[in-house]
Amino acid sequence: MPTVDNPTQRSLSELGVTSPEEVRSLFEQVRARFDAEANGNRHAVDWSMTRQAWLSRKSGVLTQITENWLKPSPVELKRAVGESLNNFKEHVAVVLADALAAVEAGAEAAVSAKERVDLSLPGVIGPTGSRHLIRQVLQEIEDIFFSIGFSVVEGPEVETPYYNFEALNIPEHHAVRDDMDTFYLDLPNGAPGPLLLRTHTSPVQIHVMEKRQPPVRVIVPGKVYRRDNPDATHSFMFHQIEGLAVDSGITFCDFTGTIDYFVKQFFGEAVKTRFRPSYFPFTEPSIEFDASCIFCGGSGAAKTGGICGKCKGAGWIELFGAGMVDPAVYGFVNYDPKKVSGFAFGIGIDRLAMLKYGIDDIQVFFQNDVRFLKQFP
Ligand code: PHE
Repeated sequence: MPTVDNPTQRSLSELGVTSPEEVRSLFEQVRARFDAEANGNRHAVDWSMTRQAWLSRKSGVLTQITENWLKPSPVELKRAVGESLNNFKEHVAVVLADALAAVEAGAEAAVSAKERVDLSLPGVIGPTGSRHLIRQVLQEIEDIFFSIGFSVVEGPEVETPYYNFEALNIPEHHAVRDDMDTFYLDLPNGAPGPLLLRTHTSPVQIHVMEKRQPPVRVIVPGKVYRRDNPDATHSFMFHQIEGLAVDSGITFCDFTGTIDYFVKQFFGEAVKTRFRPSYFPFTEPSIEFDASCIFCGGSGAAKTGGICGKCKGAGWIELFGAGMVDPAVYGFVNYDPKKVSGFAFGIGIDRLAMLKYGIDDIQVFFQNDVRFLKQFP
């Protein structure tokens, strides 16, 4: 920066310069000062201060030289001063341009050094999750039904009593509702209701038949809710997969054949099936499907002696409820019971998963203990 005793603030005569050689050497000194200053710049701010000090029109060193050296110079020195000044101006322009480039490159290098990714560092491998066993079993079940022409539909978990009960032939005071006591929603005053968490996936049968004409062949996976106290085989929320096939001329044989195919695909060819009479208001006849016990091979005897703990010596294990669709249900969806027939079933996914994988407590599905989940990658 020019200071008070800066020679450029004084005239040549004040400086005692009288010959062209002295003029040139004076310019060399100034130039050396300029070079030192311009090349020391590290940051854009320094650079612009240097530029300001040397080139500013009002008070820059070059203006001072013009004002103090060139304009008042004696005739015999004018030419030397003019020439040196022009050379120096060019020099200043070139050096400042280079200095700016260097400052910018330095800034870039500094930024990229900060942002540089070191590819030689070992990577961070995040833990990979896996599908929950319920989801895996659901997919197994779906694949089996896909292979025989069923497709998947889903329905709401919050239902009206009409879909959950009435349209399934369960009128208001039917005793079977006691088994399906569930969670009714607290609704704001005046809101249309009541609404409840569905107790089974069967209401989706109604939704599907309201929307589609036969042939219908669907499975419906989803969560269902009951006011059950949690124990090893009960949970207030569990999973079902509903099945529904309706067409003209579907027989009881089609029904049992389909279920038998499913059970053998799921548990293995060696498993036998049987059905027993049961009761559901929306199927007639209703049955309960059993499989020969997968733990003792149907013998009822434990390998270690005594009776099989899983089937309690019976050799059979109850799988799920099913039946031929009750003609009364067709009345709710405007199907003609004289023209169509069909079957429905409601598989407990959790139950099937427990049987297939030998899990004796349903609660482990919902505790999400990684030590359990990791066993089913
Ligand atoms: N919805 C019945 C239940 O939860 C199961 C079922 C479905 C029975 C379809 C027959 C036909 O318990």
